[in-house]
Amino acid sequence: MAGTQVVIVGAGPSGLMLSLLLQRQGVDSVVLERHTREYVEARIRAGLLECGTVDLLNEAGAGERMMGEGLVHDGFELAFDGGLHRIDLQGLAGQHVLIYGQTEIQKDLGDAAGERVVWGAADVTLHDFDSSRPRVTYRKDGAQHEIECDFIAGCDGYHGVSRASVPRDRIALHERIYPFGWLGVLADVPPLSDELIYANHARGFALCSMRSTHRSRYYVQCPLEDKVEDWSDERFWSELAARLPGDRASRLVTGPSIEKSIAPLRSFVAEPMRFGRLFLVGDAAHIVPPTGAKGLNLAAADVRVLYQALAEYYRARSEALLDEYSARALSRVWKATRFSWWFTTLMHKFSDEPFAHKLQLAELQYLAGSTAASTVVAENYVGLPFDAGRAAGTIRAA
Ligand code: APR
Ligand code: PHB
Repeated sequence: MAGTQVVIVGAGPSGLMLSLLLQRQGVDSVVLERHTREYVEARIRAGLLECGTVDLLNEAGAGERMMGEGLVHDGFELAFDGGLHRIDLQGLAGQHVLIYGQTEIQKDLGDAAGERVVWGAADVTLHDFDSSRPRVTYRKDGAQHEIECDFIAGCDGYHGVSRASVPRDRIALHERIYPFGWLGVLADVPPLSDELIYANHARGFALCSMRSTHRSRYYVQCPLEDKVEDWSDERFWSELAARLPGDRASRLVTGPSIEKSIAPLRSFVAEPMRFGRLFLVGDAAHIVPPTGAKGLNLAAADVRVLYQALAEYYRARSEALLDEYSARALSRVWKATRFSWWFTTLMHKFSDEPFAHKLQLAELQYLAGSTAASTVVAENYVGLPFDAGRAAGTIRAA
C-alpha cells in the first residue's frame, strides 16, 4: 500500500493550488483526478481574480503567465436606466482586480503540478477519515490502488465524492436556486469597454467581460429552460445590445461565437467544512452565483487557510489552525455568499412586476449617489481582508 501525507481529491484550481503550496512547505501530497488533463482544461469558466488569489498563485509558483498576460482593472461599470455609473475600486477600496481566464490558470497549475497528479483515477473512495490514518482507494488502468495518508482534502467540486462521503446527519446544507441562468458567449472580438459592465435592464441582466484585448466574454440572463440551440449568434448579439445603454450598444463589435453555454445560478454552503481528517475545499463545500466572480477566489481563500494549517501541523505538530479551518473558511464564505446573493438580486430580473424593478433602480441610483454605498460594493468586490486566525504560527517563507 502506498502512503503520503495528504491525499487531494480533484485536480481543479483548489486541488492543484493546495498541492503546490504544500510542496513548498515540504509536505507531500498525491492528487487524484477522475478526468483526463485535457478534459479538465477544456472547461470554460470565469476569469476575475482578487489580489489575494493572485498572491496565492504566485506563492504556488504558477503565476508567471498570469502576471504577464493578466489585465489590471481599477474599476467596473454598472449600467441601468439608460446610463452608467463607475465603481472606482482603487479609489474606494485601494485595490484592483486582475482579469485572467480560469482556463489559463488551470493550464498553468497543471504545468506546475506535474507528476503529483494521477489523471483518470476512477472510483475514488474515501475510508476511515475519522481515524488518524485515513485511506483512499481508486482504480487506474484496470488496477485497484490504495493510498494511506494523514489527511484528505476534498477538492472535488460540487458533484464530487468527498462531501457525498459525509453522513447526512453530520452536515448542514444551505441552498438557494435562482429562477434563471446565464447564457455565456466567448468570441474573438475586441471588448466593448476597457472595464467590465454589469447591466440591469427590464429585459434582464447582461455582463460585458473579456479574456484579453481581442477576446471577449459576454453573458445575458436567460430562462433556465432555454437550450443553447435556441440562441443563434444573431439573437445573442441583438439581445445583448438591447440591454446596454445606447452609446455602448452602438460600439459593440460582434462576431462568431467560439464557445456558447448556459449555466444555472445557485448559492450553496455546506457546514462544517471538516470531518475528522477530511477537509472540504472550494466548490465541494460552497457555490456562489457568478455575478460577483467569487467562485475561484473563495476556493483560493479556503486553500490559503488549509495549507497554512497543514504546514503548521507538520512544522510544530500543532492542530490549532486545523481546528480553526472550518470556522475561518466559513466566515469568509458566508460574507461572499451574501455579497453574491445581494449583487445577483440587485442586477437580475426575477419577475415582470414593475415594482420590483423600480426598487432595483432606486437602489442603483442610491448607490451611484453615495460614496459610502459604493465603497461597500468596492470592498466586497475586491475581496475582504483575510483574518490571521488566533493560533497563527510563523509559516516558513516559500
Ligand atoms: N474523483 C476524482 N476527481 C473528481 C471527482 C471524483 N469522484 N469528482 C470530481 N472530481 C474532480 C473534477 O473532475 C474537477 O476537475 O474534481 C475537480 C473539481 O474542480 P472544480 O469543480 O473546479 O472545483 P474547485 O477546484 O473547488 O474550483 C472552484 O472552479 O467551478 C469553478 O466557479 C468555480 O471558480 C470556482 C472554482
Ligand atoms: C467572466 O469574465 O467570465 C466574469 C467576470 C465577472 C463576473 C463573472 C464572470 O462577475
